[in-house]
Amino acid sequence: MANLRNRDLISMRDLTAEEIGNVLVTAAKLKHLQKSGQPHALLPGKSLAMIFQKPSTRTRISFELAMFQLGGHALYLNAGDIQLGRGETIADTARVLSRYVDAIMIRTFKQSDVEELAQFGSVPVINGLTDLEHPCQILADLLTIQERKVRLAGLKVAWVGDGNNMANSMMLACARLGMNITLATPEGYDPDPEIVRAAQEYAAPTGASVVLTRDPAVAMTGADVVVTDTWASMGQEGEYDQRIKAFQQYQVNEALVALADQDYVFMHCLPAHRGEEVVDEIMDGPHSVVWDEAENRLHVQKALLALILGAEI
Ligand code: CP
Ligand code: NVA
Repeated sequence: MANLRNRDLISMRDLTAEEIGNVLVTAAKLKHLQKSGQPHALLPGKSLAMIFQKPSTRTRISFELAMFQLGGHALYLNAGDIQLGRGETIADTARVLSRYVDAIMIRTFKQSDVEELAQFGSVPVINGLTDLEHPCQILADLLTIQERKVRLAGLKVAWVGDGNNMANSMMLACARLGMNITLATPEGYDPDPEIVRAAQEYAAPTGASVVLTRDPAVAMTGADVVVTDTWASMGQEGEYDQRIKAFQQYQVNEALVALADQDYVFMHCLPAHRGEEVVDEIMDGPHSVVWDEAENRLHVQKALLALILGAEI
């Protein structure tokens, strides 16, 4: 099994297909243990620092409960309440936290801040969302897809909307795992070009296709998995009006999903903006797996923490 001990998760690029598989298998095991009430306190005495420079419901709760259920402890650190908010450097924060805790999770704006934290800290660092990526959410999404579809390779994923952090990480994971992904984004809202290049490189040996289009119908046709996300991510609130206009044709609604495979699943990392990127009928409809996705954050992060911190599973 791929060994993740002492590893960082800064980008979806950090995990090979085998390592992703290891996280998913471990997550399924831990989910079963929890659901059947069996003890799994694999990380007694271990601590996780969680730095937040942006708001969160799922990430905060699922990481905190993950550590609690594994017999460890999590510290919620609002960046504005620690000295980081008054100018103490990322590097010094990393050095100090490394003397106290066993791992650090950070939600922030710049990907380079997560990289710097990992560079100057001596404990593993996990990306809990940046402007560029959201790898933990993608692990939860993969577990959710696997639960519904059994396989991953060969599926067609339709990403409709903003070429944002979620789109970037999803594209990397699909390419690694041999899943075909088509991203439909309006002009000016493409995924990160460097990540597109990396995904295309990963896709070559797996045979996956990574397709970019402006046409949501092209992405949706025959899709097994339909994914969207907010049109204005955290930090982009000032662009809201302009974005709402640009994304009008990219709403996931009944007319659009009519083109998908009849057994498609609908995914959204949440929070959703009902009536914007998705309508109630789809969010609350029979194809929606959004609540499983939210729950699976807990299980994949327990797996990730257990593997990174060297627990015997
Ligand atoms: N999906 C997700 O990361 O949600 P939060 O912003 O609530 O953490
Ligand atoms: N793209 C969204 C994801 C929220 C979990 C954002 O960055 O705000």
